[in-house]
Amino acid sequence: MTKNETPIIILNYKTYAESSGKNAVKLSQSVQEASDETGINMAIAPQTVDLYPIMDVVDIPVYAQHIDPITPGGHTGSTLPEALKEANINGTLINHSEQRLTLADIDTVVEKTKELDLTSVLCTNNVKTSAAVASFNPDFIAIEPPELIGTGIPVSKASPEVVENTVTEIHKINSEIPVLCGAGISTGEDMKAALELGAEGVLLASGIIKAKDQKQALIDLVSLI
Ligand code: G3P
Repeated sequence: MTKNETPIIILNYKTYAESSGKNAVKLSQSVQEASDETGINMAIAPQTVDLYPIMDVVDIPVYAQHIDPITPGGHTGSTLPEALKEANINGTLINHSEQRLTLADIDTVVEKTKELDLTSVLCTNNVKTSAAVASFNPDFIAIEPPELIGTGIPVSKASPEVVENTVTEIHKINSEIPVLCGAGISTGEDMKAALELGAEGVLLASGIIKAKDQKQALIDLVSLI
């Protein structure tokens, strides 16, 4: 399986207790097993502090949740793209609704990921911003209406037109960019609906992280595709 193979499931660990520290390592092993058992590409985006221990125990794609548009030097509290590369991290989320960047910074970061051969998963909040950033040619664009994030109300069912129109508008600019969708996705039906709308995967968090059996929740997520 190649690192960017679709359909792809990207699990954003955010800062939930269930996906931090020791729990992050345990969860990563469960994602690895779910990916191995289903044959579906599953990537993870843990907190930066948990990346190193996780890299030791999995070979699924591992992304940072954010990187900063900086060069080596005095930038206290920031994450340097080159440091992620050296840690063998495979890529990064960019511009998540919970960690937004300016348009100019998005451009800088996407260019930096290309230079370092890191996978870029560029997050957007609506159809217009998706079209606006498509010309940056990231590896993936993930549309996530912020009002549905963490609600359990799946974007693929609540706002199917947002997913469909995002795919259409992005592909007018570059038909090669795979579009993902996220917010409220948790079940196999949500996932199936997302793919039927033209998405090539999902970016999700709480539906899996808060599940009683996280591995089973991932297996169920891909059971209808
Ligand atoms: O990055 C994933 C995300 O923002 C969606 O969160 O909890 O609605 O799956 P959630």
